[in-house]
Amino acid sequence: TAIYRADYEAPAWWIDTVDLTFDLDPAKTRVLSKMRVRRNPEVPAQALRLDGDELNLARVMVNGGGTSFKMDGDQLVLENLPEGNEPVELEIFTTCAPIKNTKLMGLYVSEDTFFTQCEAEGFRRITYFLDRPDVMAMYTVTLRASKAQYPVLLSNGNLVESGDLEDGRHFAKWVDPHKKPSYLFALVAGNLVAREQKIKSRAGRDHLLQVFVRPGDLEKTEHAMNSLMHSVAWDEARFGLSLDLDRFMIVATSDFNMGAMENKGLNIFNTKYVLASQATATDTDYANIESVVGHEYFHNWTGDRVTCRDWFQLSLKEGLTVFRDQEFSMDMAGTASARAVKRIDDVRVLRTVQFPEDAGPMAHPVRPDSYIEINNFYTVTIYEKGAEVVRMQHNLVGREGFAKGMKLYFERHDGQAVTCDDFSQAIADANSGSPLAQHLQQFRRWYSQAGTPVLKAVGQYDADARTYTLTLSQSCAPTVGQAEKLPFVIPVQMGLLTASGQPIALQLQGEDAAQAVASRMLVLTEAEQRFVFSNVSEAPVPSLLRSFSAPVVLEHEFSDADLLTLLAHDSDPFNQWEASQRLGLRYALKAIAASGEASAEILPADFIEAMRRVLRDDKLDAAFKDLVLTLPSESYIAEQLAEVDPQRVHAVREAMILQLASALQPEWENIWEANRDTGAYRPDHVSAGRRALAGRALSMLCLQAARTGDTVWPGKAYQRCKDAGNMTDRMAALSALVYSASPLAEQALQRFHALFKQDALVLDKWFALQAAASDRGGDVLPAVKALMKHADFQIKNPNRARSLIFSYCNNAGAFHRADAAGYVFWADRVIEIDGINPQVASRLARVMDRWKKLTEPYRSAARQAIERVAARPNLSNDVREVITRALAD
Ligand code: ARG
Ligand code: ZN
Repeated sequence: TAIYRADYEAPAWWIDTVDLTFDLDPAKTRVLSKMRVRRNPEVPAQALRLDGDELNLARVMVNGGGTSFKMDGDQLVLENLPEGNEPVELEIFTTCAPIKNTKLMGLYVSEDTFFTQCEAEGFRRITYFLDRPDVMAMYTVTLRASKAQYPVLLSNGNLVESGDLEDGRHFAKWVDPHKKPSYLFALVAGNLVAREQKIKSRAGRDHLLQVFVRPGDLEKTEHAMNSLMHSVAWDEARFGLSLDLDRFMIVATSDFNMGAMENKGLNIFNTKYVLASQATATDTDYANIESVVGHEYFHNWTGDRVTCRDWFQLSLKEGLTVFRDQEFSMDMAGTASARAVKRIDDVRVLRTVQFPEDAGPMAHPVRPDSYIEINNFYTVTIYEKGAEVVRMQHNLVGREGFAKGMKLYFERHDGQAVTCDDFSQAIADANSGSPLAQHLQQFRRWYSQAGTPVLKAVGQYDADARTYTLTLSQSCAPTVGQAEKLPFVIPVQMGLLTASGQPIALQLQGEDAAQAVASRMLVLTEAEQRFVFSNVSEAPVPSLLRSFSAPVVLEHEFSDADLLTLLAHDSDPFNQWEASQRLGLRYALKAIAASGEASAEILPADFIEAMRRVLRDDKLDAAFKDLVLTLPSESYIAEQLAEVDPQRVHAVREAMILQLASALQPEWENIWEANRDTGAYRPDHVSAGRRALAGRALSMLCLQAARTGDTVWPGKAYQRCKDAGNMTDRMAALSALVYSASPLAEQALQRFHALFKQDALVLDKWFALQAAASDRGGDVLPAVKALMKHADFQIKNPNRARSLIFSYCNNAGAFHRADAAGYVFWADRVIEIDGINPQVASRLARVMDRWKKLTEPYRSAARQAIERVAARPNLSNDVREVITRALAD
């Protein structure tokens, strides 16, 4: 049943302290919880209802004596607690079975080590509790376990006592100095080793940083530790936020539903975002580790010190913390060009994944109004669109103003569980007079209205008056449950260029010429508004929405010539890149609409020449060139179409890539020669960009070779697979062979497997690459089915399941089959995984979100597959919600 934001009520009881004792045993762990609870005087007297899930209840005591209680579904209800506002001592004894916990929520075992995952509602699988984020308590935790099997015992806060017990057992007692909601509780017990680092904060306080991994993985923790040290320093320097703990721990596990978790002082991470060595991790892995370590660390303030009142406010901490980790990565990247590359990467994720979500059956506002299963709302809308909404606030008050707003936010709300409105109020109040403060109520529609707004721009030049009138208008299509949308506040950063690419000084009518600047922000608040610029000497080319200043779709009738001008000359690197994407998209859509086979001549000569100039330009960074040469994704192209033939979209995009491969062959050869050797490996942005571009060149050259029958380039790629000095180069070479369906691919894959069969994260790459291979006559699905029987495949491990099954289902060319076999496979796997781990199954279910846009025969086949899943009687809430929404009209 659905839960509504409007139904929020403050808790009837508070839990001030909780003292937990764990006797850890994989088959039967005993949990003793002693709580001090008291009535919330602001709420009418009520029974205490504690949440539980899959627990065995052994005993309940109140103030040291027996008590009556009843069960209401999963809740433990205490109706006869003493009246009045005096605290009550409550003692609850339960057991659970961590080894049987395949959902990986609550307390579970992974590779003989105990871990917990409590966000959002996992704590109730450990003990009965008020498992909601607005109930914050002080925690004391005692862990007891076999010393030989579990030598390391960790929980939140400070270790205050430890020692040996009888029978080869030992104990550790932890006290967290900060109160926290239950979702931030964590424990870890197992045989682990740690990289340690002592640091002094700006304020002069000493801290111990630790990264715990399994023995043997220690040398792969250097980058994570460096990232953590950088994160600590960055939050102090940029926001004045210091580490508030003596000890900060990160622990890695290979069985984890998501990326990582910000438990107070004891972050638990997917190994994917901790372990790296140049031999096993790619540049992308290195960048992701920096960003996720930063993200979880930044949650220490934005999430842990100030948390969410209820789960509808999830973006309060997630949108803000993603914004912070994006800024962190940009500041670490350094140069303006590297910052732009990071911004482009982030926008690509938004457009490729969030825009479809916002237009599909799971569309929801950044602050949802209802949900059935909260785990389904850890989405790109909450995270990435939420970060864009924070970024717009940042831009509307300026960098200094935002820092002031953050300061006020913590002054007001430190130690509290609050709402998205509290956040925007603090930012606005610290910046009275700013456009955010002026339009705060309207700005908040970004939190309440789902859907991606369309921003339409029409320009009109008046040569006699020397004026340029820019008319901006906005609209937003209906989404589930929201038929009408009111206008948003849309910050539009913009400039004007002459046809030859010179910047034009921007002087709005009525303004002083002396104040004219080359780039400025217009704030659109109405459905339609006009902006008139004076002293414009020629019909300008507008550069709109610079740096992607709002998460909207911009429509403007650029001519090809306008876009080539922007690509060559715009001072905003984002819009330079954007011009290349608009051109690519334009040609793709034209070719998709044309009848007959996708031709080899989709891209016109002037576009090819522009790409040639980009590749040859010495002043451009390699990473930027690589992004310009990346065509819009199939998913982004598909979003522009009313009806999607996925095979047609795929074929057209592939034909465009082939055309770039063949027309630019001399440039690809030069690029390869100039960038193939980046010297001693360092995961910095400049050399990573060169490796990315060299990898693309090799892939293009192998594609072209496959067409001409040349064997030299595949030979070079094969050689590279053998002797590359780092995983980025090795992986690029292997994928060049696989993607071009080279006869050498099979042998290269076998060698790769033999070399890395001990390394789970590398095996994930090996599975993923094969599942994402180009389909030739339907050969990928049988290969995937064979790989499911491979000795190294384990469906229970989320990383492995994602690497093979998700990669296949996201490989449009191989997945959308006229015989529907891809959809049948999808339905079977959703059902199979749902019996193991509903959160993972529900993510897989979402692969079909956009099925209604498919053309026949795909559409009917997709409906059948979804209906088959829907007909299963015992689906989890997670999958049920996604499937029900997918089938709803
Ligand atoms: N708060 C975590 C993060 O964003 C994500 C945890 C999500 N867990 C879940 N079971 N949905 O860093
Ligand atoms: Zn987060």
